[in-house]
Amino acid sequence: MILSLRNVTKTYCLEGAEVRALDGVSIDIKEGEFVAIVGPSGSGKSTLMHIVGLLDTPTSGKVLLEDKEVTRMSEATLAKLRNEHIGFVFQQFNLLPRVSALENVELPLIYKGVGAGERRQRATKMLEMVGLGERLNNWPNQLSGGQQQRVAIARALILNPLIILADEPTGNLDSKTGKDILDLLHKLNKEGHTVVLVTHDSDVAVSAKRQIKIRDGKVVS
Ligand SMILES: Nc1ncnc2c1ncn2[C@@H]1O[C@H](COP(=O)(O)OP(=O)(O)O)[C@@H](O)[C@H]1O
Ligand SMILES: [Mg+2]
Repeated sequence: MILSLRNVTKTYCLEGAEVRALDGVSIDIKEGEFVAIVGPSGSGKSTLMHIVGLLDTPTSGKVLLEDKEVTRMSEATLAKLRNEHIGFVFQQFNLLPRVSALENVELPLIYKGVGAGERRQRATKMLEMVGLGERLNNWPNQLSGGQQQRVAIARALILNPLIILADEPTGNLDSKTGKDILDLLHKLNKEGHTVVLVTHDSDVAVSAKRQIKIRDGKVVS
């Protein structure tokens, strides 16, 4: 098991009222899986994604990464685990605007203290792998949405994470480009990467090997 949630709840306090965004969620993600987390707007997907990605901690319940409990670790420890084990892909790409595709992909290596030569070499290889070998020195605004998402995927993969966590990765793309990005995620999964895809779109979700459906903060199937 790569990642498990055990009876996780998350409550937010909003103007004095309690909002239960997650209500007793238990899930297991195994190595090599392609899982879609699907549900309508407001069902708790982003909250779940933040907890699975170690960006936030549950109000109650446990989070286990490779069978080790991480629920009450310090923010600094969680940040390190996140950088090393989770590759994030977001709807809005989240690239740094004033640096090249290559430098965007190098970022996680900089945080890890990898030297300049090796960084350049590894980031170049990763961008070639996602089909952007000719675009290394372009800034994000010189790339199409689909190309920017490929840069984000290359960046997510550069440290060979345990999980690729993609939150609505096709949400800002036209349907053809969205399908290309989905195909790329499937190709990566076939090569052995574990993919967790968060989406409200059931057409996107059906491509996954397994769907976890959530509604009102609960897993319904
Ligand atoms: N920071 C927050 N403060 C208060 N309520 C929140 C916060 N984040 C999310 N919620 C609420 O939690 C519920 C689940 O939200 P969310 O996880 O964003 O759902 P989804 O991503 O499926 O649209 C919603 O009712 C939302 O309004
Ligand atoms: Mg959301």
